[in-house]
Amino acid sequence: MFSKEKYLNRRKYLIEQLPSGIVLLPGNERVPMNYAGNAYPFRQDSHFLYYFGIDMPGLTGVIDVDSGESYLFGDEVTLDELIWVGEYPSLAEMSEKSGVSKFFPKMRLENYLATALQLKRTIHYLPPYRADRLLQLSQWLSFTPAEVKEHASDELISVIVNQRSVKDADELNEIELTINQVTSEMFLTALRMSEPGIKESEIVAAIEHIAKAHGCRQSFIPICSVNGHYLHNESYANILREGQLLLVDAGSESKMHYATDLTRVFPVAKTFTTQQAEIYQLVLDMQMAALQMMKPGITYFSVHMHACKVLVEGLKSLGLMNGDTDELVEQGAHALFFPHGLGHLMGLDVHDMEDLGEQNTGYDDEVSRSTVFGTRYLRYGKKLKEGLVLTVEPGIYFIPLLIQQWKKEEKFKQYIHYEQIERYLNFGGIRIEDDVVITNSGCRILGNPVPKTIAEIELLKMP
Ligand code: GLY
Ligand code: MN
Ligand code: MN
Repeated sequence: MFSKEKYLNRRKYLIEQLPSGIVLLPGNERVPMNYAGNAYPFRQDSHFLYYFGIDMPGLTGVIDVDSGESYLFGDEVTLDELIWVGEYPSLAEMSEKSGVSKFFPKMRLENYLATALQLKRTIHYLPPYRADRLLQLSQWLSFTPAEVKEHASDELISVIVNQRSVKDADELNEIELTINQVTSEMFLTALRMSEPGIKESEIVAAIEHIAKAHGCRQSFIPICSVNGHYLHNESYANILREGQLLLVDAGSESKMHYATDLTRVFPVAKTFTTQQAEIYQLVLDMQMAALQMMKPGITYFSVHMHACKVLVEGLKSLGLMNGDTDELVEQGAHALFFPHGLGHLMGLDVHDMEDLGEQNTGYDDEVSRSTVFGTRYLRYGKKLKEGLVLTVEPGIYFIPLLIQQWKKEEKFKQYIHYEQIERYLNFGGIRIEDDVVITNSGCRILGNPVPKTIAEIELLKMP
């Protein structure tokens, strides 16, 4: 946990920014997998972690904007339960650690909220992403489930997005330590293991082992596939073969649950083929061009568009496209090869605050979301500012299903040389992803460098 002052200051900011009312921040409950006693691994709600820092189920935090006080509602673990779970902190201990002045049994919460409603106080809450929370809010606030979603507080969303988007030195340190101590090892291990005859599942098991051995968890379900052209492929059934590329997209959570999210691609052979190296270098060029451009005041939308233009220039020189680069990218012809966004916010969530709506976290009055296929998947388009943490993850993919479809529709046939693409139908996909903080004059990749140039990767693959 961070110091109690940090949690007090974070809540103070909310209190200062909101005009009045109370903020209701339920923590997460355990979620049953197949019966109540066999639950999914517990993951605390990220907003609750941010404002209270307590990594335990069954708690709700309340911040009274008018009095400035914060409360915790929850139940002490009974002796019967302690026999099963061992030592457990008391509510008093948990409250003390997050600087909360008063704590109450959970049954008091319903009354507290009913009184607040009678007094016509505004209850600010966030849109629920779990069904149990939706039902709980529906019961507490006497709304139908549809009304619960409708009445989520736009004011609270906006304040939280502003506050949580900017990371302080302690948060950056959490992310960097995790990259250095855990995530890097995952990728170096995957690189060393990417040999003919190894199963994707064996590499995934090694990645999981590293996270667990460090007392961490992974920040999302990892992608470890020779079919890197399927963007979020979660199957690990293939055996690696000479000539293929292995795409690994994985991350770990720090002890405080800050995420990391990296992607690297390794040749299964000792070296990249010429065709693989050409495409790999182009993805790296896209990432480098993006990193060079990123600084406060520039929109991430324009960085994304710039990376797309680098892609098109490269594909033109490889004979896969032709035409006016700006026009091609405006119209979305490049999305055949790069059908996703350049990156997303990252923090306590790997896609930070996506539960609050991508429109709310990634766009504003100044920058609106594109409607063009590919470009519309950019999750964050707004102006960059100091302290933001984003991923930068360009890619190039040869997706046979998409290529066939576009070819059949003769889509952008004046720009795309479909006959040349035939040579790439077994290529797979390449993505290179790093986590980056915006500084006062540019940006900085977080953590020690994880090998990514062709020379670095091939050197590490040498016997
Ligand atoms: N690993 C998920 C993503 O890169 O967005
Ligand atoms: Mn990723
Ligand atoms: Mn990512």
